[in-house]
Amino acid sequence: MDLYQKIKKREEKISLIGLGYVGMPIAVAFAKKVDVIGFDVNKVKIDLYKSGIDPTKEVGDEVIKESSVDFTSDEERLREARFHIVAVPTPVKEDRSPDLTPVESASRTLGRNLSKGSIVVFESTVYPGVTEEICVPILEKESGLKCGVDFKVGYSPERINPGDQEHRLETIIKVVAGMDNDTLDIVAKVYELVVEVGVYKAESIKVAEAAKVIENSQRDINIAFMNELSIIFNKMGIDTKAVLEAAGTKWNFLKFSPGLVGGHCIGVDPYYLTYKAEQMGYYSQVILSGRKINDDMGKYVAENTLKKMIKANKQINGSKVAIFGVTFKENCPDVRNTKVVDVIKELEEYGVQVKVVDPVADKEDLWREFRIYPSEIEEIKEMDAVIFAVPHVEFKAIQLEDVKRMYSTRIATTHLEVMKEIAATSEFQKDVQRNDCVLMDIKGMFDRKEAENAGFIYWRL
Ligand SMILES: NC(=O)c1ccc[n+]([C@@H]2O[C@H](COP(=O)([O-])OP(=O)(O)OC[C@H]3O[C@@H](n4cnc5c(N)ncnc54)[C@H](O)[C@@H]3O)[C@@H](O)[C@H]2O)c1
Repeated sequence: MDLYQKIKKREEKISLIGLGYVGMPIAVAFAKKVDVIGFDVNKVKIDLYKSGIDPTKEVGDEVIKESSVDFTSDEERLREARFHIVAVPTPVKEDRSPDLTPVESASRTLGRNLSKGSIVVFESTVYPGVTEEICVPILEKESGLKCGVDFKVGYSPERINPGDQEHRLETIIKVVAGMDNDTLDIVAKVYELVVEVGVYKAESIKVAEAAKVIENSQRDINIAFMNELSIIFNKMGIDTKAVLEAAGTKWNFLKFSPGLVGGHCIGVDPYYLTYKAEQMGYYSQVILSGRKINDDMGKYVAENTLKKMIKANKQINGSKVAIFGVTFKENCPDVRNTKVVDVIKELEEYGVQVKVVDPVADKEDLWREFRIYPSEIEEIKEMDAVIFAVPHVEFKAIQLEDVKRMYSTRIATTHLEVMKEIAATSEFQKDVQRNDCVLMDIKGMFDRKEAENAGFIYWRL
């Protein structure tokens, strides 16, 4: 009986190392079929899971409560499992080089507790070579076991899309790789227990590592192209969304849209690839140019907000701006590496007071990482500009007339003059439409024409 059959018969266990946005849904999915130990170094997180709370909102509290995952922060419990899946973070350092500390530390922890006959599969996004050249030597050193003889390794990149209920672990083809055919066969069969649409067997671990890192690099470059187009069309006074809708009618035009690229995947993974390329003597041009454009978009949005405010005769220093949405993407509480914070920082440098509204964001992370405490929507009054940065479902009910009520009742002096003039004439209308409401609609949540007709100074990427 091989390891797969033993796992299926619950004679052997699977362990998950790192229970975040990726690891926890995998643990929960496997636990519906087999015995699973869920290990994380973060004791607070483990306690939350144990008490039936899902801070990632990926599977929801009810599912966590019902799950049979054996949550623990005791590393020795890893000795009970023979099939290990590592899903720890792979961030970048200040200088944007890969920070492999979590992967290395998880490898040390696992190595100390590795049993003979185990298979270790890495899921963290890395550059080609990390599994075999960095993780394997650590596992061998800590365990005293020999890779290929006493234990085997595999790699299976994660493709889930947090906040997306359609593309889930079960419904996305999973790339799997193993150090040899037997390992590949077992890794494939184990994942087939939970991935309904099946697996794709990559020809090597390095191929699977590379496949993942280019999926996200490709997306990053395409969005960078859209952002560049948006900068160009903004100068030309052409609406980018309208251009993309027109061009999108061609069968092979790729559908991407401009936006702030944050998070710890798309905005980070390309640096893993370019780092490795540089080590091999190749300096990336396309990938890094795209990164530069995307990294600068927060500042660009802030600058355009300021320009529109000046156009509306707003005094910038001491003005008030509300930002709706601060997470790195819609309908997801994750605020790591969110570029909305770049918008906030840039505005604050000009003396703007920024209020953030985000019912979805993880409030603790927001405070810990950025010292931002979100406001309630009712507190958004007397604003000089409003920015809709992230189109959470929760914001869909907000109408333009609701937005109008969020602005300052102090009308800019020139508008006052105009109003006085109108008032002096016989055609004085009580309901003079004001036109100093700056609305920055980054992702195009509102209809541009409707907003302009309603008197907003409207801008979108
Ligand atoms: N979130 C995504 O959308 C996504 C999608 C595909 C791939 N990935 C990749 O998956 C990996 C994990 O990402 P994530 O979003 O789940 O990260 P995360 O930060 O949400 O979760 C990682 C977990 O690992 C734990 N951890 C850190 N060091 C550890 C260690 N030494 N031992 C045990 N646990 C440890 C952390 O406490 C945390 O709970 C990353 O490489 C990421 O690039 C993420």
